[in-house]
Amino acid sequence: MLPCRLCTFKTPTPNHMKYTNYLLLFALTFALASCGQTEEKPKEHSDKNKMKIANMKLASDAHSYSKPEDAVVKHLDWDAVVDFDQKIISATANYKIENVSGTDVIIFDVNHLNLMEVRVEGELTEFHIGPDKKYLGQPLEVPITADSKTVSIKYETSKGAEALLWVDGDEPFLFTQSQAILARTWIPCQDSPGVRYSYNARVKVPSNLMALMSAENPQEKNATGEYTFKMEQPIPSYLMALAVGNVEFRAIGEQAGVYAIPSLIEAAEYEFQEMDDMLLAAEELYGKYVWGRYDLLILPPAFPFGGMENPRLTFATPTIIAGDRSLVALVAHELAHSWSGNLVTNSTWDDFWLNEGFTVYFEQRIMEAVYGREHSEMLAKLTKQELIAEEEDIRVTQNMPNDTKLKLDLLGRNPDDGLTAIPYNKGYFFLRLMEETVGRDKFDAFLKAYFTEHSFQVMDTDNFLAYLNDRLLTDEDRAAIDIDAWVFGVGIPANIPNVESDRLERVDSVLTEWVAGNAKISDIKWASWEYQEKYRFISELPESVSAAQMAELDAAFEILKTGNNEVLFAWLEKSIRKDYKAAYPRVESFLVSVGRRKFLTPLYRAMKETGKLDMAKAIYVKARPHYHAVAVGTMDELLDYSE
Ligand code: BES
Ligand code: ZN
Repeated sequence: MLPCRLCTFKTPTPNHMKYTNYLLLFALTFALASCGQTEEKPKEHSDKNKMKIANMKLASDAHSYSKPEDAVVKHLDWDAVVDFDQKIISATANYKIENVSGTDVIIFDVNHLNLMEVRVEGELTEFHIGPDKKYLGQPLEVPITADSKTVSIKYETSKGAEALLWVDGDEPFLFTQSQAILARTWIPCQDSPGVRYSYNARVKVPSNLMALMSAENPQEKNATGEYTFKMEQPIPSYLMALAVGNVEFRAIGEQAGVYAIPSLIEAAEYEFQEMDDMLLAAEELYGKYVWGRYDLLILPPAFPFGGMENPRLTFATPTIIAGDRSLVALVAHELAHSWSGNLVTNSTWDDFWLNEGFTVYFEQRIMEAVYGREHSEMLAKLTKQELIAEEEDIRVTQNMPNDTKLKLDLLGRNPDDGLTAIPYNKGYFFLRLMEETVGRDKFDAFLKAYFTEHSFQVMDTDNFLAYLNDRLLTDEDRAAIDIDAWVFGVGIPANIPNVESDRLERVDSVLTEWVAGNAKISDIKWASWEYQEKYRFISELPESVSAAQMAELDAAFEILKTGNNEVLFAWLEKSIRKDYKAAYPRVESFLVSVGRRKFLTPLYRAMKETGKLDMAKAIYVKARPHYHAVAVGTMDELLDYSE
């Protein structure tokens, strides 16, 4: 028998103390019954835990305490006040629920929320908060009856709420990042991708700022600072999103648009002019866009990701504004998620490749349709280059071979650990191999049907493979593809598709010649190159290149002045690795102003691996206060940093 969870609260927070009365009551009336019965470790994948949604047997989600097979949330009415002074959100979450199995408890995920009161059918009720577990937070158990239809929870976010980043300064900003399991740090929810609900919201913010959500959005500020939102289609909690800032809106065509702070709005409007074409291309490929509008919000540079596919409103890093529209593949990616991910959703984070691998494939197809095959094949070649490098790093250097499988096993781990090039790029090449094996027409028809038939549902790896075998592949195809090796095997199968790019081959050869001393710097036609060619050249600079040669390249091409952050990033990493000191001030200014983890990790790691840990730490101390919690977590670990 496990100890009572009421007694295992490790750090009694003021919040916990506040509820002592409720908790005591609850201990008598309800909790006793469950104490000791509920397990301390995350749910395991067992037949008992399998649930049935839309006639599919799905594995249960080890990253949520909720038991939607018993009692499930169907709709949320969220009333919130955003307080920039205290940096907290105070809210009431009013839920419509369904008691599926006649259970006496509904379970929500919470992570350090300060709960004020819980009501069922309008009546104040006791509740029980279980012990806090790393990454997962706590289960919030609310007693219900077979007839209960509504639960309302009044709460506040805590100071350290991990999803939230409050940006101070001239342009105050708040944004959330819920994926994978951080929604529970700002809303009590059944935080599992398999639980979908619609929502309405009323949000009050300082009157000089606009609020935006993953929902129907305002296009102008209003003087009251009160905004209402509606998301009629059911979405999983990881797609709940809120941003508050001094933003303006510009339309791009009928259905699309961009939001950004005033100083960026024009640049953003120019950069993303082709969003409209992308949307048309996407619909042409895999069916109607069902979410209404598709807008893009440019976030502060501290956003830890490149983009996040919040429905109707993609959140994006400003580092994709290059001035020449060269980094818009990211928009194609997030747009593609409107089908792969937001319509057909990975069942658990172990199936993350079903979201991301499909999305990279779809992104490539949009890029091909809008910019042509030559352009998209350059992107595909970089995708392969990244896969090969990262796969080896994970399997050999980090010695985590199982993390190179498409189907992951993240039980007991942070789902964030699954966020590598494997689900993205290995997933992409697996789909591309299928396309090349069965032919594009057949594959496109298959994908279109897949999205249509599973709209607003979850999918897991086993069910996808069953559907694939049933609907697409012949025995001959199966023999050619070797699904097991791709999905359940370690490493990169030998039948990975070839990517041909004459332009990148020319880059490789001029690089080889220049390194060997057979080509002059003027033979490198830098000015005529697209970003992919520049990126390829820099990232493939071999070991033997010296700091002096780096200086020669920099003098000729003024690389440190580039407006393309991917090129700059690649250059800064090489500069660190080759002790090209002229770039160090830029390394510092870049790391202090940009919080995108994909850039941070390699740069800090390069310093660490080349004996410059002191430099890394000195920069990190300055930069850390500007980073979002998900970046801080990764960098603290990398640099062995503690406050
Ligand atoms: N959904 C992801 C971001 C994500 C995944 C956040 C898992 C948290 C947990 C988003 O669609 C994404 O993949 N973003 C990429 C950009 C893309 C072009 C590969 C990124 O942020 O770099
Ligand atoms: Zn993605």
